[in-house]
Amino acid sequence: MKVLVIGSGGREHAIAHALSKSNKVTEIHAIPGNPGIASIGTCHKGSVEDLEGIKKFVEDYNIDLTVIGPEVPLCMGLADLLEASNHLVFGPKKFAATLEGSKAFSKDFMMRHNIPTAAYVETTNYEEACKALDKFSYPVVIKADGLAAGKGVVICESKVDATNTLKEMLIDGILDGAGSKVILEEFLTGFECSLLCFTDGKTIVPMVSAKDHKQIYDGNIGPNTGGMGTVSPNPFMPENMDEVLKRDILDPFMKGLKEDNMDYRGVIFIGLMIENNKAKVLEFNVRFGDPETQSILLRLDSDLFDIMYAVANKTLEQVPVKWSDEHVCCLVLASGGYPGSYEKGKVITGLNDVDDDIIVFHAGTKEENGCILTNGGRVLNICAKGQNLNEVREKVYKASSVIDFEGKYFRKDIGLA
Ligand code: AMP
Ligand code: GLY
Repeated sequence: MKVLVIGSGGREHAIAHALSKSNKVTEIHAIPGNPGIASIGTCHKGSVEDLEGIKKFVEDYNIDLTVIGPEVPLCMGLADLLEASNHLVFGPKKFAATLEGSKAFSKDFMMRHNIPTAAYVETTNYEEACKALDKFSYPVVIKADGLAAGKGVVICESKVDATNTLKEMLIDGILDGAGSKVILEEFLTGFECSLLCFTDGKTIVPMVSAKDHKQIYDGNIGPNTGGMGTVSPNPFMPENMDEVLKRDILDPFMKGLKEDNMDYRGVIFIGLMIENNKAKVLEFNVRFGDPETQSILLRLDSDLFDIMYAVANKTLEQVPVKWSDEHVCCLVLASGGYPGSYEKGKVITGLNDVDDDIIVFHAGTKEENGCILTNGGRVLNICAKGQNLNEVREKVYKASSVIDFEGKYFRKDIGLA
């Protein structure tokens, strides 16, 4: 089978790596891919937003399954375009992808289908938004409605903070169209956790837990990033939550998909806040998390291609999804300055000198004249498997001193904080 992976990050490298273990997969292609993916498949120039170009590629290369990594092409309707020509796709259609593409849409979905979430107000008007602030205590959460590449959520400690943020989003337009509608939301306390699930719209299968570390600095301080590292299992996940999550979140979510006629075949990533063994949904993402996926897929004992093919064919209930009990740590090596501005094009050394049981996924790299150079904020994901958290932490931190580039930055407390 020929598989096409759309995207260029560590998540897509981890997906391609898991697919390469399947004896059914004969060819892996990626648009645009990265130098890590190029070592197990073929990368092709192109943009993830060039939907017609991707469709032409799928037809020219007789691709059997297209796996869409990032949210932008999902929200633009890539799955719809490919499926309209009978091509199999792993990734939800545009209407369902709006669960990530619009926070107002996803809040409305949650309210209508009794999925627990924070109380909120939605508005496009600055004066109305300022007035609505009176309904909330502080801190209050302000969210841009549209996709904002991780910059759309601001936790405001005071009324001054909140009115400034509302002005920036609604009047100054600092997030362009993404902030022309906002959600004001009650601040939830508790323990945050991500729940990723495979679903074909009929069956939903949760994956093993993972803990992301979103802030840039140790101790969970500083600005939010795409994610600085993950461990799986999530050491902070309370025991015996499975039944509660199924009853309170997954069952109403599946009922909601059916009632709203959403064609959902892919991954649903549910951001949760848990307190006193009760969960509320912070957000839906309509794709694998990055870097959660790097840890999670290294624990998958079943064939990822079989699962994805079954999801695309709506036969997920027939396929086993088994996980190993091992622990995994994924450490992000970032460019100094990230998530603010940073330099690119630094030579990366030591990639071939790490221990054999280290897996390095490429996240923001490029190849030039036989050298691997930095090409993004999050550059590499160093991953290791082992029997416990300490062992996997030791392995990845040892490798982090072997791999080097100018400005290399990483958190020291992945799995601990
Ligand atoms: P989101 O993109 O909606 O998940 O928001 C990004 C981050 O903001 C989350 O991972 C949380 O850490 C935080 N956050 C979002 N909504 C809330 C909320 N209602 N209460 C507390 N923290 C929140
Ligand atoms: N790591 C968080 C995300 O992928 O959205």
